Amino acid sequence: MGPDWAIALGVAFWICIALLTSALPVQMRRGTWLSVSVAPIIACMNLGGPIVAGWVALIGSTEMRELRGRIPWYGTLANHAMITLPALAGGVVLHVLRGGHAKEELLWDFAATMAAATVYLALNLGLASLAVSLRSGVSLRIVLLGDARDFAGSLFGLAPLAWLMGRIYLQAGWWATLLFALPLWTTRVAHSRFVEMREMFTQTIESLANAVDKRDPFTSNHSKRVMLIASDIGREMKCSEPEMEALEWGGLLHDIGKIGVRDEILLKQEKLTREERMKMNAHPELGAEIIAPVRKLAAELPIIRHHHEWYNGSGYPDRLIGTEIPWLARILHVADAFEAMTAQRPYRMTPLTAEQALSELRKFAGIQFDPAVVDAFVRTNWVDGVPDPGRVVTLRPIPLLAQAAGRMAQVAAGATPLPDPGASPTDAR
Ligand SMILES: [Fe+2]
Ligand SMILES: [Fe+2]
Repeated sequence: MGPDWAIALGVAFWICIALLTSALPVQMRRGTWLSVSVAPIIACMNLGGPIVAGWVALIGSTEMRELRGRIPWYGTLANHAMITLPALAGGVVLHVLRGGHAKEELLWDFAATMAAATVYLALNLGLASLAVSLRSGVSLRIVLLGDARDFAGSLFGLAPLAWLMGRIYLQAGWWATLLFALPLWTTRVAHSRFVEMREMFTQTIESLANAVDKRDPFTSNHSKRVMLIASDIGREMKCSEPEMEALEWGGLLHDIGKIGVRDEILLKQEKLTREERMKMNAHPELGAEIIAPVRKLAAELPIIRHHHEWYNGSGYPDRLIGTEIPWLARILHVADAFEAMTAQRPYRMTPLTAEQALSELRKFAGIQFDPAVVDAFVRTNWVDGVPDPGRVVTLRPIPLLAQAAGRMAQVAAGATPLPDPGASPTDAR
């Protein structure tokens, strides 16, 4: 067999490996697709340079979904481009780094391949996240940090394996390379298990939140809507990816403590007595106690415990003031209040309009709510086109004077002093 035929057969072999490893991609949380085809593509960058790696990436990244016609032509074009272009770039980087070094200088060859793999993965993750961001409208930062955080380490872990695949191909032949199918398959299984477990966890949390909401016919979907509003505010306030996740799960679970509140209190249409109010007000603490044993939800605990704290220190359960209140709990408080005001409740059969609710939020900014959070909420779609009365009170109390300042601000805002949280329309029971 001539050398040209040997090269052609070699390229065909690597295309087959790439096709097999691309066949069952796993969809990540924010929407990008992940496959273990990075390993054969990096191996080809090492073995054949940018042109061979480019061809293997172009043909080998074909997926079953494309062959079944489930992806439009521009989607197929984008999918192939976001694998082929990084493969070409990685191949060029490897070629330049190798310079005059021989392939037999193993340590140098390994280091150059790792550098090229880093370029490939960074470009590939960046382009894939950009495509998802453009398609879904979710910011590039959220998609990139969300998906890359979970899997970048695992993908980079495939780079040394890819280098080894290339060396084994050269030393022992194509058949020995097939032995790598096993670690690649187990990596793929681990990725899909991770995604499944995460999905199961999210679904379980949603079911728990539904169970609480369903006890009261007026509050069905309350937790989900609070989660959506809080997430939009979080996005406006440039929350980090872990903070966004805490807002999502914390939003769903914030009222979980209502499981421990009796029906005659939860569903009461009249004003609650002082004793009933105390039992109702225990729900943030109770919720935090229920969630405390779940270590994965540690970041959500402060949100659940402090979502009824007031900015001026007259909330509950710990009467925290201003910035003492965890930031995410301040975000959730605004989302919770807006949702509660604009929905029918047993104690208020006619919900407020979005305009009235926004006006209440503005009135109580600096008293009940963090004014910066209310400002961020005004920029979300939830109050698109709603007339905004603007900031009435911009108060940032300092700890010692905060209580007095809070009361003064209430008078300045024309509001009745509120010795008992719950008397205000802005307070979600
Ligand atoms: Fe609550
Ligand atoms: Fe709530």
